Formats: sequence, structure tokens, C-alpha cells
Amino acid sequence: MKKVSIWASGGGSNARCIMEHLSTVPGMEVAVVVTNRAKSGVRDIAREYGIPDVLIGKDQLADQDSVLQLLSDNYDVDLIVLAGWLLLIPPYLVDAYRGRMINIHPSLLPKYGGPGMYGMHVHQAVHDSGDEVSGMTVHHVTEQYDEGGIILQARVALDPDDSPQRIAERVLQLEHRYYPIVVEELLRFPYSS
Ligand code: GRF
Repeated sequence: MKKVSIWASGGGSNARCIMEHLSTVPGMEVAVVVTNRAKSGVRDIAREYGIPDVLIGKDQLADQDSVLQLLSDNYDVDLIVLAGWLLLIPPYLVDAYRGRMINIHPSLLPKYGGPGMYGMHVHQAVHDSGDEVSGMTVHHVTEQYDEGGIILQARVALDPDDSPQRIAERVLQLEHRYYPIVVEELLRFPYSS
């Protein structure tokens, strides 16, 4: 069985799409959901799918031995999938899962990425720039926010009168369509550098 760990801080709509998709793919599963917020919606979604969830706050994230033990000994994780995870991943974890940890970002990186560029900040910036397209990027995770190698980008045309909220909806639709497929492909054909 190929195993995914989804890491999410927020509502978890991408997490839901990945859980739903992998529940239909033989030989693959979401083994554990990690969140840093006790009240994040992703915990309820995990329960709906019967998937265990674990709370890892900033302090626990610094505890290298227990995090690595959880991922490798307890759940035998092949791929870490960040889906709205807001804390910076510490270097020990980037190292341990290099090439096996991916993130999704709601813009066409390298535009509108980096520290402080998350959620509506991104869509507001796209809106204010007058760009005619936006999109999403799935990329490998490195020690810096939003800087790892790009795996897939998908773009969507914007209307001049799109509000930041409308841009967010358009981009989220793309994320839901493509992220589960990227996860499946990477489990099937692991990345090697
Ligand atoms: C998505 O827009 C993703 O690109 C970003 O965080 C958001 C998570 O949304 N990294 P959700 O919690 O999956 O709805």
C-alpha cells in the first residue's frame, strides 16, 4: 500500500478531494492527516473518511525524533502532501522527505509566492496587478516558502471585473481538479533527483 500524509491548517477542501480520489484508487491511501490547529475543518473531514488525524503544533514540529517516528514508524508514509499548511517545514523534515513532499500554491509561481503570500493575500495581489490570468502551482517543498521545483501548473483566464473572491474560486476549482491527480501520479512514479 502506498501511503500519503496530508498536512493542512485550514478548511481542507483540497484534502477532501485527495481523500475522495485516493479512496477510489487501489493500492493507495491517505494514512494520516496532520494539522497544527485543533479547530481546523480538516479534522472533521478526516473523521468522515475514517482517517486518523494528529495535531502537531509549532513546538511539536521542532521535535525531530517524534515527528519522524510518527511518519515512518507509525504510518510508513511515502509522500507528504501539504494542502493549506501554513507553518514553515523545518530543515530536518525537508531533508528526510526531499522529493517526497509537495505543496500547492494558489498562483502561477514564481509570481505571488513567498512569505506572507497565502490565501486572499495572493488573490488580492493578482487582482490589483490587473493580470489577465492566474492559476495554481504544485511544487516540491524546500527550506524556503514556495521555492521548490515546479511539478505542474494550470492556468485560468480572468475577467476584468473578477473580484479577489472570484479569482480565489476560479483557482480553487483548478486545485481540486489537478492536485489529486498529481498525488496519484507521484505515488505511482516516485520522483528521483
Ligand atoms: C489553497 O488555496 C492552497 O493553494 C493553499 O491553501 C489553500 C487551502 O485551501 N496552499 P483548502 O483548505 O484546501 O480549502
